[in-house]
Amino acid sequence: MRFDILTIFPESLAGFFATGVLRQAQEKKLLEVHLHDLRDFTDDPHRTVDDRPYGGGAGMVLKADPFVRAIERIKAEAGIELRTILLSSQGHLLRQDDAVRWATLPGLLLLCGRYEGVDERVTAFVDEEVSIGDYVLAGGEVAAAAIVEATARMLAGVVGKFESVETDSFYGKARLGPPQYTRPPLFRGLEVPEVLLSGDHSKIEAFRERRAWEKTARNRPDLLGLDLDRGNPHG
Ligand code: ADE
Repeated sequence: MRFDILTIFPESLAGFFATGVLRQAQEKKLLEVHLHDLRDFTDDPHRTVDDRPYGGGAGMVLKADPFVRAIERIKAEAGIELRTILLSSQGHLLRQDDAVRWATLPGLLLLCGRYEGVDERVTAFVDEEVSIGDYVLAGGEVAAAAIVEATARMLAGVVGKFESVETDSFYGKARLGPPQYTRPPLFRGLEVPEVLLSGDHSKIEAFRERRAWEKTARNRPDLLGLDLDRGNPHG
């Protein structure tokens, strides 16, 4: 699968994709990542990407023209279908089933916003607008990295054991994944639950299932339809 990312800070993402499972997947030719600098799609000597907002207000807005020129050129050069996604705090919330859906496609073109946002007319040239959570980032780069990683994990061969994908939080079930433990069996007075040392796989499975639901009820009651008003988790 091919991922193209358009950003004013391509260097901020290069190291991320040169590491770990994403690096291995590129070496195995399971995925390609192409980083593009938005400034390369400007047409003025100052390589201007932003301007002041119509109607006034603080901050700057990324101009529509470099984005649209980049979308057209990158798609033409790729020569395959690229689903175009704008990262913004106003998008639909990213979920695991989005990653599952995108992993069936030939490629994604991810557009990173910055500053106060992107000229709204860019949305006429994109397929989806996606947010990674109800908070505002300085730009879409971290969100693009999250989308590539979540989607790549759904491709055959990227994660060593697909079983580890199936037991993940959210995969196929509206609950978090079960808690995990490794050696030593006693750490600072905290024991590994005995059942995990028993070798009894049906008991272990039942224990993990129960603990996964307990943890979901505690940390994500919204997934169970129990409590949509989380309040202050630190309060
Ligand atoms: N850009 C700024 N905030 C964002 C968010 N929450 N998700 C995706 N892109 C963003």
